Amino acid sequence: MEKLFAEHDFDTVVHFAAESHVDRSILEPELFLTTNIVGTQTLLDAAMRHWKLSPDDKYSREYKPGVRYLQVSTDEVYGALGREGMFTETTPLSPNSPYSASKAGADLVVRAYHETYGLPVNITRCSNNYGPYQFPEKLIPLMIHNARKDRPLPVYGDGLQIRDWLHVRDHCAAIAAVLEKGEAGQVYNVGGNNEKANIEIIRLILKELGKPESLISYVKDRPGHDRRYAIDNTKITTLLGWRPEYTFEKGIRETIQWYLEHPEWVERITSGEYQRYYEKMYLN
Ligand code: TYD
Repeated sequence: MEKLFAEHDFDTVVHFAAESHVDRSILEPELFLTTNIVGTQTLLDAAMRHWKLSPDDKYSREYKPGVRYLQVSTDEVYGALGREGMFTETTPLSPNSPYSASKAGADLVVRAYHETYGLPVNITRCSNNYGPYQFPEKLIPLMIHNARKDRPLPVYGDGLQIRDWLHVRDHCAAIAAVLEKGEAGQVYNVGGNNEKANIEIIRLILKELGKPESLISYVKDRPGHDRRYAIDNTKITTLLGWRPEYTFEKGIRETIQWYLEHPEWVERITSGEYQRYYEKMYLN
């Protein structure tokens, strides 16, 4: 990081990188805390050193003009919802998995760098993303991949868990809006207004691919499985003028089409390590 910051005159950091899969965090929590919390601190320190007008003075709060650090976080830091309600930016953090705890920890470190050192930061908390190039450990690409190969589709528990789906392009537009117009120190929730039960999505994928529902296989539930996530978009839509453009119907059709048109990308990334993960996770 030091080398990169020295070589390039960065004025913005958008921290997308994370260990992001709940199931993997259940298998290897330490990896998640290290990558997601210590990784965030590493980036914050590098940005702060290169952006501060007096880099050696821990007490100075003066930065180069126009610099911004944006932490890409998740609605999972708020925990789970019942049938009613939505997450707002002031919902208390109540993470349930090692993954969401590591993201909540990172968010608090980002907040502390703003309060203590005056670093100009934002945190965005998005709902479940989908779209092209998503790794097939996540629900939508995993189900498309298995259905294409006529393999069982592993549905956790009763499949009635609800997620609020956000197209990756809408997510990126929201991040751009925060960088352009967001106020330093603020958190913005980003959701697609698309609440769907997992089983609904799985049935839709099977229908689009012309595959039988007999591929659905109910398996043991994920421990600590959050029942429902839903985001209240009011802050970002009213203050920054962003809103999601994709309907779920359009987004999911395009996404399925993308996976059908890019078999070589899927084959490449589902060989080797992915096979070992899949066997450990699903075949035991
Ligand atoms: P996932 O894509 O892992 O995202 P998250 O856990 O961050 O919401 O899972 C989305 C939902 O799909 C979640 O309720 C778990 C469920 N799921 C399955 O039922 N089977 C699977 O094989 C996977 C990966 C997820």
